[in-house]
Amino acid sequence: MEKRIPRHVSMIMDGNGRWARERGKERVYGHFEGVESVRACTETAVEAGVEYLSLFAFSEENWGRPEAEVTTLMELMASSMINERDTFMANGIRFRVLGNLSRLSEKLRAAIDEMEKATSENTRLTLIIFLSYSGKWDIMQAAKRLAADYAGREDEMAGLDISSFDKYLVTAGIPDPDLIVRTSGEQRISNYLLWQSAYSEFYFTDILWPDFRREQFLAAIEDYAGRDRRYGKVK
Ligand code: IPE
Ligand code: IPE
Ligand code: MG
Repeated sequence: MEKRIPRHVSMIMDGNGRWARERGKERVYGHFEGVESVRACTETAVEAGVEYLSLFAFSEENWGRPEAEVTTLMELMASSMINERDTFMANGIRFRVLGNLSRLSEKLRAAIDEMEKATSENTRLTLIIFLSYSGKWDIMQAAKRLAADYAGREDEMAGLDISSFDKYLVTAGIPDPDLIVRTSGEQRISNYLLWQSAYSEFYFTDILWPDFRREQFLAAIEDYAGRDRRYGKVK
């Protein structure tokens, strides 16, 4: 039998700070090393035939971290994005960033915009970075935009269905994640893809994000292949 490959894998990249602390270093050192895991997982996704790889890089709540850490994370985002440009083009990777981008600096937004445009025709893998994202924020912004669109024709709202609402989420057009991985031993969703994870399979591992590379990703895919997805039905 053909091995079942998840079409969309999403990762809550957690444990960078602990990884650094274990080595007696500053938390940001873990973020730097975490970038290497992003690279390894992107390559592995291409190799395995995953179509969408999405990564939770920074939550709306993470804005509440010390300013120095936030600044480093944003700089890291900008520099790694620019460094990866050639890799994206050579490997057919389409790059997207989703979240409450109004909170980002003008400069970072422009760089993201540039990179999204440059890679928009690539079709092998879509790499999505969730930045300044939270699930409740996403549902809220969708509800507001939908309400604004239907102002004055509220009678039509009765005809809306789930897929009508999907179109207002920032993930519009992207299939829901088949597999959600969270590293570092925490077993919670931390306000990530609340709506979109309705029928996702979850994979929790104690491995800290900077140690999550090809072998660990392949193990998660292997585990997924053995899952029985019933969607509430009876076989
Ligand atoms: C994940 O690692 C990266 C981000 C949330 C930006 P953490 O920074 O949360 O690391 P821990 O969980 O404190 O170890
Ligand atoms: C979740 O990790 C957010 C990201 C991985 C970007 P956190 O470290 O912020 O989550 P909590 O605080 O442990 O729930
Ligand atoms: Mg954490």
